[in-house]
Amino acid sequence: MNQEYAIADQIAVSKTSWKNTDNRMPDGKSPWCGWLRPTLLLFLLIWPTLAAAESKTLNSARQLPPLLSQLGVFADLSSLRPAAAMVAYEVNSPLWSDGADKFRWFLLPPGGRIGYRAEGPWDFPIGTLFIKHFDLVSPDSRRRLETRVLVVEAPSTTAASIVGATYVWNAARTDAARVDATEVVTVPGRDGHQVAWGFPGRQDCAQCHTSLNGGVIGLTSAQLRRTVGGSDQIERLRDSGLFAASPTAAQLGAITPLADLHDAKASLDVRARSYLASNCSHCHLPGGTPAQFDVRFIRALSEAGLVNAIPVRPDAGMPLITPGRPELSLLYKRIASTTPGERMPPLASVVVDDQAIAVLREWITAMAPR
Ligand code: HEC
Ligand code: HEC
Repeated sequence: MNQEYAIADQIAVSKTSWKNTDNRMPDGKSPWCGWLRPTLLLFLLIWPTLAAAESKTLNSARQLPPLLSQLGVFADLSSLRPAAAMVAYEVNSPLWSDGADKFRWFLLPPGGRIGYRAEGPWDFPIGTLFIKHFDLVSPDSRRRLETRVLVVEAPSTTAASIVGATYVWNAARTDAARVDATEVVTVPGRDGHQVAWGFPGRQDCAQCHTSLNGGVIGLTSAQLRRTVGGSDQIERLRDSGLFAASPTAAQLGAITPLADLHDAKASLDVRARSYLASNCSHCHLPGGTPAQFDVRFIRALSEAGLVNAIPVRPDAGMPLITPGRPELSLLYKRIASTTPGERMPPLASVVVDDQAIAVLREWITAMAPR
């Protein structure tokens, strides 16, 4: 846990502020009063036109402000102290982002409540804002890279329910500017060597944040059921009154949480399948890609369409998974590859996740031939 941002403290602060300060920031301003409300109203007015155009990509008419400071989500940008109404959260199994450290928050609109679901994405009201911040730590520096923002603009079952963009930090760390088209820079990586870092363009977000996965990907019961700062994270959200209908103790007890790759208490199978769920299933679910397998965590391995399955690409030359043989498993080969066009995931990562590779290798090796 990184001391700089003291995430656990922020949850406590956000919780108190949610109850006591009517969603206000310390200076009395809320992003809802400033930028967010007029933008959303404008959006609601033009939505029928946009919907008619069947825009599946993020539309430039729906603007986020040019500077992160204008969003008002951080009370102090230099220390990244969030506005009091922001709720910090952690996920059990993060998306691999080439070794970056990530910090996450959300902000409900005034009076807005979350629709709880045991499985699949929770339902967030229109106007909810999500922040994911990225730092890259090298042996001698912590570089502040980018802060991604998503806003729910329509019910999650419709296409383009979400608008998003990333904000790239200036060298002085005083503010970050919105980026519209993909940009690649070179930065010192975790081992000190220079690595390429791609800032995703606005169209890129929609490749992963889709209507099929609900648009908001990481806020699910399986991802959020974890102990943070000594208490259960979902129970804390419930006790802060953030759910429209509070999940019961029995419902919470029935959740099977995703496991981190390094969680010694979780089985190899759960760790490997959690990784595939959090890193691949936002695309690899029914209807998501031309490929036929489904790695959502709710699918048992026997139903995932992986073991001994013939790939759709005829030139692949091996099944998706050959039990006992990682080197003859296309899933393993593509996640371990750095060749563009072959590498999975196909965007937002160029550095192989060595620890994931080790776990997947062990997992496939341990499968009995069948
Ligand atoms: C390669 C797929 C991929 C791309 C491209 C991508 N994201 Fe995400 N994003 C994810 C996944 C998976 C999660 C959930 C896991 C996590 O939080 O680590 C996530 C989480 C988020 C979150 C937290 C809320 C949520 O949905 O869980 C925000 C905010 C976010 N992304 C913003 C963006 C923005 C803005 C862009 C484009 C500039 C973008 N993302 C591009 C895969 C992607
Ligand atoms: C942004 C969406 C996206 C993400 C995220 C993604 N994939 Fe894919 N994947 C695709 C698409 C599209 C195809 C089909 C085209 C191709 O084969 O390149 C594909 C194809 C594949 C195939 C070949 C399937 C076949 O039958 O030929 C494998 C294996 C694969 N992906 C594994 C993974 C793994 C493992 C992950 C997670 C680490 C992952 N993918 C993440 C979009 C994605």
